[in-house]
Amino acid sequence: MKLTSRQERLLKLTFIDYTQMEDFVKAPLILNKAEGLYYWDADGRRYFDAIGGVFVALLGHRHPRIMEAMRKQMEQMTFTPPLHAISDIALDFVEKLGSITPGSLDYVKPFSGGSESTESALKFTRQYHRQTGHPGKYKFISFYTAYHGATFGAMSASGTGKRKTKFEPQMPGFIKAFPPHWYRDMFPSPADATRHAARMVEDLIINEDPETVAGLLVEPISNTGGIATPAADYFTLLRQICDRHNVTLIFDEVITGYARTGQMFAAQTFGTTPDIICAGKGLSSGAIPLGAMMARAEMAGAFLGSTHSESQFAHGHTFAGNPLGAAVGLAVIEEILEKNLCEKARTLGALLANKLEGLKKFGVVREVRGKGMLLGVELVKDLTSNEPFDALGMALKKTALANGLIMRINPNWFAVAPALIAEPADIDELYGLIEKSLREALAEVRP
Ligand SMILES: Cc1ncc(COP(=O)(O)O)c(C=O)c1O
Repeated sequence: MKLTSRQERLLKLTFIDYTQMEDFVKAPLILNKAEGLYYWDADGRRYFDAIGGVFVALLGHRHPRIMEAMRKQMEQMTFTPPLHAISDIALDFVEKLGSITPGSLDYVKPFSGGSESTESALKFTRQYHRQTGHPGKYKFISFYTAYHGATFGAMSASGTGKRKTKFEPQMPGFIKAFPPHWYRDMFPSPADATRHAARMVEDLIINEDPETVAGLLVEPISNTGGIATPAADYFTLLRQICDRHNVTLIFDEVITGYARTGQMFAAQTFGTTPDIICAGKGLSSGAIPLGAMMARAEMAGAFLGSTHSESQFAHGHTFAGNPLGAAVGLAVIEEILEKNLCEKARTLGALLANKLEGLKKFGVVREVRGKGMLLGVELVKDLTSNEPFDALGMALKKTALANGLIMRINPNWFAVAPALIAEPADIDELYGLIEKSLREALAEVRP
């Protein structure tokens, strides 16, 4: 793209998330239009959106059902006073979202995004323990390589190195463990690595004193970990550990929820019911900022009481649960249910995973991982050393964009998570673009 002088001036007066703007102005991307699986830039060039923006456009861009739900709600009411009232459509959303969660997670508080949801879950957990006879429980255990959001609590729970060391000290009471994939090369099998990782979590809780540990926060599949996908029994073990020590198990499903992994939530995909699920991103398919926290109904009971008990959840956000967001969230869930998109994520995801396996012919792909339509490909210099191939990922960033393909590349792995409206022909087109871009990137780094 060629920038106008106005664009170049204005780009230095704002910023793209986590991006050096001096670099961005050299290879800019200014988008003007989106429809279905595609974006168009300001010059009219089309891009295949292989990542739904950033794991957001679950039903593609400008889905007609969502547009219609928004139009209808706009005619009625676009804001309710959060300290005084709730809209009926927000109650419909609470009921619908609660009905698709596993177990008894039907206590639902809508928010405006992922960070608000994780941040709220941390506060909810601390207040819950305080009100159920365990006032000393305040610590959270989470994982290196995980990302839970940009606000201070969510950032303190995140394990994404330099993204947060700039802002240290982090909040006290946040302790990190290593996820199962971290030491995978040291164990004979993924099952052994999983058992070791779970054991480490329990040892942490015991050594910290269980009466000080409030919660365990985990992404079922970690994007920033490289679409790190643990074996299912990892979550069974974590559930048992949390039960043994009265620790609240929180799943951050901001990316993995809403049919993406082949079930409504990854909790169902992995067969483990947490105490709290955090949602965001695909819940609105990108039409409006929307998130939510869902908790066990029994936990919610601890927040009911008399006026003087002060037991209500001491928390709120101005835009949380606004009627437009609720209307959009409802439309997304109804579309998933009506079109059986969980099943589609499984079958189309298997097709895409199978095709991505074909990239192993280049000799630089160690693993294709993920579940359903949330997939990741790990790039290594060779299959003996398994050394990360960052230079290839950096080159792939350029070749993908040049070929009209938007993916998440970071840089020794890339993630693919197309919208669930894709059909097999779209998967063919997507694979063709990935294969071409990877071939060209390889030619660049290994001429
Ligand atoms: C797993 C996870 N949790 C939380 C968040 C934070 O969500 P948001 O950026 O909407 O605040 C993100 C964002 O990328 C995420 O990937």
